[in-house]
Amino acid sequence: MDSLRFFLPTTIESGANCVRSAAGRWVLGRKALLVTGAGAAAASGALADAQAALEARGAGWAHFDGIRANPDADQVYAGVAAAQAQGCDFVVGIGGGSALDAAKAIAWAAAAGVPRERFFRVRPEPGEAALPIVAIPTTCGTGSEVTPYSIITSHEAQTKVNVSGDGLFPKVALLDPRYLASLPPQVLCDTALDALSHAIEGAYSPRSTRFTEALALEAIRTIVPELVRMAHGAFVNLAQLQYASTVAGVVIAQTGTGLVHAMGYPLTYHKGIPHGRANGILLAGYLDFMARPCAALTEKLLEAASLRSSDELHGLVDALLDATNATPEAPSEDELTRFTREPLRLDLVRRYRSMPSPEEVMDIYRTGF
Ligand SMILES: [Fe+2]
Repeated sequence: MDSLRFFLPTTIESGANCVRSAAGRWVLGRKALLVTGAGAAAASGALADAQAALEARGAGWAHFDGIRANPDADQVYAGVAAAQAQGCDFVVGIGGGSALDAAKAIAWAAAAGVPRERFFRVRPEPGEAALPIVAIPTTCGTGSEVTPYSIITSHEAQTKVNVSGDGLFPKVALLDPRYLASLPPQVLCDTALDALSHAIEGAYSPRSTRFTEALALEAIRTIVPELVRMAHGAFVNLAQLQYASTVAGVVIAQTGTGLVHAMGYPLTYHKGIPHGRANGILLAGYLDFMARPCAALTEKLLEAASLRSSDELHGLVDALLDATNATPEAPSEDELTRFTREPLRLDLVRRYRSMPSPEEVMDIYRTGF
């Protein structure tokens, strides 16, 4: 076998009621900062479960609910102030990618003493510790519960910045599929498309290995049938989606994301298109682009998805957006031209297998819209 590195320091606990039943394995300190958004953590039941588990173990907690979609450094530093004021010695992120990513950034900035004005200028050093992090996802897309990434919006750079380091891997990820039951259909769809995008981009990554390719194919095989059911308004197996989204997260923890994420960020920042939906719209054009340098792999990915062509993937994404009433307004040609410059500046594209030209990036945007 070729030499490879596969690093995953996160313990995964899954199953109904695992937050309470596994409390002995995730209460990692005396007082937790519970980091959440405004509603999903409470509505899903995850917040109450975490609070009950902490109390059962004799640990204290403080609740910081100041995280919004696409969190920025101000929200992170409000969380750092809360952790310090409350004397918290570990951090529990509960929610979607925004809450989990913010929890990681808070855990790092609080432990490393990074001042607000230096936040986007420094990166976690290899091996630099954050406060211990526990992740409880309530969506099925981010994969953040098993990655070292924290994606924070920079208003200076007008896009998202990846603050990552091995110290940002959660120590424990707690997966209870019941928490997905209260998700609005659009969020379920958007986050599942994000997970699919992680699997596909991970498979194409130059850092992909036999391990990550096998996991990416498993994630695609699991997600796509659920997306097809979702498009037809049929019953969707939430446990399958949660499992596959964590599997896809394990993939990008090793490979990183790629062109689709780089192209999706301006759609989210400038047009407000949710992260997973922005990625989903771009996937078919991306598959066409990657089919040229990676024909055999593209065949494998389509086969895992039980799709005959990228056109069928395009049709599936369109049907999903229709079914969930989520078709976004297309950006103008001028806007797309402007967005084209942004992904080409990002590292995640520069280290890619096949550096796209501005025309090729534009083609992928046009195919999507
Ligand atoms: Fe993503």
